[in-house]
Amino acid sequence: MNVRNPGIANFGVTIIQSRHSVRKFKEEEIPPEFIRKVLECASKAPTGRNKQPWIFVVIKNKDTLKKLAEFAPTGQFIEGAAVGFLVFGQADWKFTVEDCSAATENLLLAIHAYGYGGCWIAGNQMPYADAVRELAAIPETYKLVSIVAAGVPDVGGITLTEKISLDKLVFFEKYS
Ligand SMILES: Cc1cc2nc3c(=O)[nH]c(=O)nc-3n(C[C@H](O)[C@H](O)[C@H](O)COP(=O)(O)O)c2cc1C
Repeated sequence: MNVRNPGIANFGVTIIQSRHSVRKFKEEEIPPEFIRKVLECASKAPTGRNKQPWIFVVIKNKDTLKKLAEFAPTGQFIEGAAVGFLVFGQADWKFTVEDCSAATENLLLAIHAYGYGGCWIAGNQMPYADAVRELAAIPETYKLVSIVAAGVPDVGGITLTEKISLDKLVFFEKYS
């Protein structure tokens, strides 16, 4: 296949296609330089009017990770993560959810690209969103959009989640 920039395209596509949620982690740290790098990637996401409405909170403290696990019933595995990332967006910005979701996906892709594993834990509109915000001492002018648990995967190999076939999802010109 002809692509404009084969080097970048092939690498990018491989990372995107092999990304998968990881919910079990080894008791190993993620070095600070990688934490910075994945956050840099998060902050490169596109945003409406280039608003960049986000702030990111890095949680490494085990007690705080445990508290997050208690708050989020569907994210209890964060207790075993090396790092929890909290993604907050300006509460009064109309595209906060879209912008912070784009940053969250960038974050997950970068975590995977560096050989770590991660999983998105619901934040936006969840009953525990304010409790998480208060835990991190974030003012009400921000709202929680997502939580990401990350660490060294404690799973053998890669298990990709089954996805719906493109044939069922894509229409050319009109729905048919
Ligand atoms: C908005 C959103 C919220 C999610 N919340 C959770 C969650 O609370 N707990 C969880 O285990 N996974 C959560 N996930 C991860 C999805 O379950 C996962 O992405 C999906 O099953 C597809 O698997 P994959 O990531 O391996 O492709 C969430 C993903 C998104 C995008």
